[in-house]
Amino acid sequence: MNILIIGSGGREHALAWKLAQSPRTGRIFVAPGNAGTATDGTDIENIPINPTNFPALIKFAKENKIGLTVVGPEVPLCAGIVDIFQSEQLRIFGPNKAAAQIEGSKVFCKEILRKGSVPTASHHTFMTGNEAIQFFDDKDRDNPIVVKADGLAAGKGVFVCSNRAEAVDAITRITKKREFGYAGDRIILEERLDGQEASVLAITDGATILTLQPAQDHKAAYDGDTGPNTGGMGAYSPTPVVDDTTLHWIEEHIFVPTIHTLKRADILFRGVLYAGLMLTKQGPKVLEYNARFGDPECQPLLMRLQTDLLDIIEATIDGKLHQLTPLQWDNRTAVCVVMASRGYPGGYEKGFPIRGLAEAAQVPNTKVFHAGTAIHEDGTIVSNGGRVLNVTGLGGSVSEAKLAAYTAVKCIRWDGAWCRKDISDKALSQT
Ligand code: AMP
Ligand code: GLY
Repeated sequence: MNILIIGSGGREHALAWKLAQSPRTGRIFVAPGNAGTATDGTDIENIPINPTNFPALIKFAKENKIGLTVVGPEVPLCAGIVDIFQSEQLRIFGPNKAAAQIEGSKVFCKEILRKGSVPTASHHTFMTGNEAIQFFDDKDRDNPIVVKADGLAAGKGVFVCSNRAEAVDAITRITKKREFGYAGDRIILEERLDGQEASVLAITDGATILTLQPAQDHKAAYDGDTGPNTGGMGAYSPTPVVDDTTLHWIEEHIFVPTIHTLKRADILFRGVLYAGLMLTKQGPKVLEYNARFGDPECQPLLMRLQTDLLDIIEATIDGKLHQLTPLQWDNRTAVCVVMASRGYPGGYEKGFPIRGLAEAAQVPNTKVFHAGTAIHEDGTIVSNGGRVLNVTGLGGSVSEAKLAAYTAVKCIRWDGAWCRKDISDKALSQT
C-alpha cells in the first residue's frame, strides 16, 4: 500500500520510518518532508506540496494510488483535511474537523471537559479583553493565573502569569494587539496548577481506547526548565511519574469520559488523542488536548512501539481497534534530544551545513530523526528551522538511553547548534 504522510517535522520523519517497517507498506511520500525523509531509504520520498494545499494533495493521492494518508500536524486537521479526503473516498488517519476542535478551540475543549466531569483547572471564558480585565477589577485579584488564547497559536498563545500585571499584559497581547489573530477572538483565564507535567497519548476509533506508554516533554528552552516556552526541547518514554496505576486512572477518568462526551455531542473521534496533563496533589488534571501525535513525544514512543503501526492505523479508521491484540512495547527507555538553531525559540538563521550525521548513525541504539533540515543544491544537508534534529537513544535504563542519545548528539555539529543537557533528568530525580 502506498502511504502519504503530511508534515515536515521530526514526528513525520518518525512516522515514515516506522510505517516503512510494515511488510504491507509500498512507497511512502511525505508532503513536504525534510532532508531526513528524503534520505532515509529508497521507499520514502518527499513531494513539494504544502500541508494545507488540499486540492493538490487530493490530486496527488488519486494519481499515485495512495491507500492511506496520515496527517501529522494540527493545522490541516483543524482545517478539515480529513472530511475533504473522506468526501473524495480517500482513506485518511486523523480526527475530522469537528473532533479536531478539541485542540483547535480551548473553549470547546473546556466545555467537553466540564460536561464529562474530567479533572481540569477551573476557568472563565471571555469574549473581549475588557471583560477579562474587568474580572480582575471586580475581585481585586493578584494571584497566579494562566491566560490562554482560544485558537491555534503554535503553542505560543498560553501565558502562565504570576500576578495581575502580567495577566493584563497577556490579555492585551492576545485581544488588543491581536498577536495571534483570530485565535484571540475568545480568551480563557484559568487557575494555575502546580506539579509535574506528563504527556499521555491514546489512539481511539471512538469506541475502543488504546492508551500509549506515558511520556514527558521538556517545553522550556533551557536546562532546569528555565527560559521561554518552545515546541519541545526533548522527550522520553516511559516516565516513572506516571506508573501503571496512574495510567489506568487516566484512561478511566480522563480518556473514557472525554470520548463519551464527544460522542454525546455527535462527534466521533478517530485518531490520536493527546492529553497534556498536570500531575497535581489532587491527581492528574488536563491542561490541554491535542488531536495528533506530540512532537517530540512521537519519536521516543515510535522507537519503543513494536506493534505494526499500519495495523493500528487501519484498525482505527475501520472502527476495529477492539480486534487488535494488545500493543507490544520495547521495555527499554527512549530519550529524544532536540538539537536547535542559535536564537530559537526567537529568530534564527537557516542554511548552515550539518556535519557528523554519518558518525552519529554509527552510534548503537540511536536514531537521528530530522525536523528543520533541507538538502542544499550541492547535496549537503543544512539547517532549515528552529528545531533541527531529534536525536533519539534507547537504553536499558533512563541513564543508558540518555547516554546513547547524547553520544550521538556529540557527533553532530553546525554553526549555532545547541541542545538542553538535562533531557530525562526529571525521571532520575524520581528514582
Ligand atoms: P497548553 O498549550 O494549554 O498545554 O499550555 C502550554 C503550557 O503552559 C503547558 O505545557 C504548561 O506548562 C503551561 N500551562 C497551561 N495551563 C496551565 C495551568 N492551568 N497551570 C499551570 N501551567 C499551565
Ligand atoms: N510536544 C508538544 C506538542 O506536540 O504539542
